[in-house]
Amino acid sequence: MKYALIGCGRVSPNHIVAAIKNNLEIVALCDVSKNAVYELKEKCPLIKKVKTYRDYKEMLAIESPELVAIATESGLHADIAVDCINAGCNVIIEKPIALSISDADRIIEAAERMGVKVAANHQNRFNSSIQKIRSAVEAGRFGRIFHATTQIRWCRTESYYKQAPWRGTWEMDGGALMNQCIHNIDLMNWMLGEEPVEVIAMTDNLNHNYIDVEDMGLAIVKYRNGAYGIVEGSVNVFGGDLEEAICIFGENGTVKADGTINNIIENWRFADDIDDEDEVKRDFSVEVNHIYGQGHTPLYADMIDAITSNRAPYVDMYAGKRALELVLAIYRASKEKRAVSLPLAQAATTDFIGLFNK
Ligand SMILES: NC(=O)c1ccc[n+]([C@@H]2O[C@H](COP(=O)([O-])OP(=O)(O)OC[C@H]3O[C@@H](n4cnc5c(N)ncnc54)[C@H](O)[C@@H]3O)[C@@H](O)[C@H]2O)c1
Repeated sequence: MKYALIGCGRVSPNHIVAAIKNNLEIVALCDVSKNAVYELKEKCPLIKKVKTYRDYKEMLAIESPELVAIATESGLHADIAVDCINAGCNVIIEKPIALSISDADRIIEAAERMGVKVAANHQNRFNSSIQKIRSAVEAGRFGRIFHATTQIRWCRTESYYKQAPWRGTWEMDGGALMNQCIHNIDLMNWMLGEEPVEVIAMTDNLNHNYIDVEDMGLAIVKYRNGAYGIVEGSVNVFGGDLEEAICIFGENGTVKADGTINNIIENWRFADDIDDEDEVKRDFSVEVNHIYGQGHTPLYADMIDAITSNRAPYVDMYAGKRALELVLAIYRASKEKRAVSLPLAQAATTDFIGLFNK
């Protein structure tokens, strides 16, 4: 399957490794920065001879890839994705898939019209710990789920934000919730039934006066099925990344996963006792050596299978929109100091420009 990558920055090696491991035919790399492509090729020698482009539209016209991954700054995802879809490509879009409801809807409209597949790159769904928790949810082992909590307790310093001008802006990025915590917001949505109906929240910029966006967000979410979710996302943690965690509390089960990216199962207690807690902790906890984890490769495998067998990808564009929508609802609840109901008709990160201007 002919594959191309648009955006060759920090996360791009994960895409290339996933493409290579899944035997995709990498026909093109595209980046407006020659240096970015050079650095990617230095890191991944197997792609040294792959053709490079600075203009993705030219690349689409000449190479006709069947699958394209988009890993540019977040605010460009939607325009590029719609162009790829209209060229007939299936698309993997890095998270967040877009920065506004209307942009997410443009992607969905184009993909439905063209009949192509779009995957949202929430790769942590493929962690073995998360897969194990999800299997317990699907089997109904928790009984009624009362509430879940999710935390990203990370550290992002000035050097991180200075890597590229788009970071920490409302127009191209969003803050701790939209950029870092969205992975766990997706996981919480997925575990709690995917239909948040109401949100109260506070967000702030406490420690990063050189960025426009929040560096901390706290929210309580009510789901249609009566479950509650608590979100805590911070990039203010002193001394480096601490953890990314998710806990689920049900009438018949209690589970906690933490570690760098929810990869370690800490607690596994169920009334049905059909598996042993120590064995589950041992067998489904996997060490990871990077916050991006190992999920890109299985996400690519799933997408390739979705294309060849004409089914929806495991993490589809609707899930990508739902995660985006919940973050935007949290932002609105914080700005307007009131409970916000979902779904949202319209919202965009640009609605919050100036919110934290001192
Ligand atoms: N899934 C994850 O765990 C994960 C991890 C990191 C980043 N991301 C997401 O991936 C995206 C990229 O993040 P990054 O850290 O790699 O950013 P980056 O700034 O390091 O890389 C982005 C690249 O896109 C290029 N680019 C910009 N406009 C372009 C265009 N029109 N055509 C082609 N290339 C263009 C830039 O020159 C740059 O090299 C973001 O949306 C981010 O949220 C996801």
